[in-house]
Amino acid sequence: MQIKYWQSQNKTIALVPTMGNLHRGHIALVEQAMALADKVVVSIFVNPTQFDKDADLQAYSRTEQEDQQKLQKQGVDCLFLPSVETMYPTLGSACAIKVPDSLDILEGASRKGHFSGVATVVAKLFNLVKPDIAIFGEKDFQQVMLVRKLVEDLNFDIKIIAAQTVREADGLAMSSRNGYLSNDERLTASSLYKILNDLRNQVLQGDYNYSNLETEAMRKLEEAGYIPDYVVLRRQHDVQKPNKDDDALVVLAAAWLGKARLIDNIAFNISS
Ligand code: PAJ
Repeated sequence: MQIKYWQSQNKTIALVPTMGNLHRGHIALVEQAMALADKVVVSIFVNPTQFDKDADLQAYSRTEQEDQQKLQKQGVDCLFLPSVETMYPTLGSACAIKVPDSLDILEGASRKGHFSGVATVVAKLFNLVKPDIAIFGEKDFQQVMLVRKLVEDLNFDIKIIAAQTVREADGLAMSSRNGYLSNDERLTASSLYKILNDLRNQVLQGDYNYSNLETEAMRKLEEAGYIPDYVVLRRQHDVQKPNKDDDALVVLAAAWLGKARLIDNIAFNISS
């Protein structure tokens, strides 16, 4: 109702989809939304269809009261907090969005069905909120790629904005999953960003032996105590292996540190 009223008043609406347990990274998306649109809707929904392991879904931190206070403080116009029954009345037998096989790599390979679940819930949120703009974080590099493709392929008239990754002072990308780290692991966790930065700097200094650089970065992560899933250098537009003439690259990593699976990436251009 509220949204229909805003639309009748020709107000622009920005949507910030989240799964809650809000940190400064989420708040930065909200701030950007407020700067770009007349009205800001934030959704908090821990989406069961994007979790490949039930234990992970159950363990996901839910901090609704704190989240609500943070959003109120920001002056958010609407908080959309649907229940699983509202979003998926027929969970398990509902229509879902099929994503292209090209997304079955990196996060798509590590987490079966994850991107189909993300695409489905994002499409549902787009249909329910009907925003003009939606904001996503670059921290989830493939997620932004997927959302752009979803909007193009399914003809959503929504402008997608990718916001920069917000980091702790030591470089660790903010994440709801950082709360799973012990004190010692938290100290170690800053090295993920450093190792990715080193890899990028080596490329910028003219070392184009990408597979050696990837192996070296994996070794550094293992030495530091991580169990890495992947560290790869890819081209930005489709996260496939770069050719010699690809200039816009991204280094992406996922690694376990204790109970936390950390992901991070750095996008850069060789020519800059
Ligand atoms: P969630 O992990 O809660 O993240 C919500 C949004 O915040 C995503 O767009 C994510 O990329 C962004 N974000 C997370 N950490 C960030 C950081 N350190 N800096 C900047 N932005 C950051 O991503 C999801 O939820 C879900 O998959 C969702 C899109 C809501 C669909 O269920």
